[in-house]
Amino acid sequence: MILGVNVDHVATLREARRGIEPDPVMAATLAILGGADGITIHLREDRRHIHDRDLKILREFVPVELNLEMAATKEMIGIALRIKPDMVTLVPEKREELTTEGGLDVKRQKVNLKKAASRIQGAGIPVSLFINPSNDDIAVSGEIGASMVEIHTGLYANANAKNQERELIKVVKAVREASSLGLQSNAGHGLNYPNVKKIAEIEGLRGLYIGHSIISRAVLVGIERAVREMKELINSCKL
Ligand code: PXP
Repeated sequence: MILGVNVDHVATLREARRGIEPDPVMAATLAILGGADGITIHLREDRRHIHDRDLKILREFVPVELNLEMAATKEMIGIALRIKPDMVTLVPEKREELTTEGGLDVKRQKVNLKKAASRIQGAGIPVSLFINPSNDDIAVSGEIGASMVEIHTGLYANANAKNQERELIKVVKAVREASSLGLQSNAGHGLNYPNVKKIAEIEGLRGLYIGHSIISRAVLVGIERAVREMKELINSCKL
């Protein structure tokens, strides 16, 4: 199972002083040394953390999967087609949110998402849709024609002990449904060191996309070690 490490939070810290450090590109290098199979960045419309320049430099030097998270807008599609990341994850985006709050409304945005996925995939870049763990949304994602989905694990991650099993089952069912439709599935959001194992044990998952918990741990122990420890946890769940 692959681990994609999201380095947006390093850029958030840089933007606290609008300076040049810490550098998300440097963080990506160290994350790769720690075993990251991919680097994820979210280029937001307001450029609140990652800048266009970061994306350009990362594209030039990242030797592992570069996953660009973005909204399905004309501007972002143009950037993706120009920079050519290894994959694009389409996410909903609200200016006022602290982080992505939930999966895409694939039903309501079906036409726009289908158009976006077709343009991006037409350029040879696989598209993943960030969706809630719902069989209906998986079915619509299949109709949209995306190669992959990323199942939102936020509700599982935030659930109290009583409800966590119920939320886990929703993720398991969503992965199963995606496989049955020939869609590859990933998972992410809110995953951390205590809660990752149950998700990493799900059969059929291609990869996990994790940011906040790894960067938080990295602040204390260093990014290379933080990534290595997460990789060890995920690998210990190999079936
Ligand atoms: N996947 C998606 C689509 C996201 O938007 C984010 C947050 O940027 C993540 C995964 C990682 O979430 P977290 O930072 O909570 O690990």
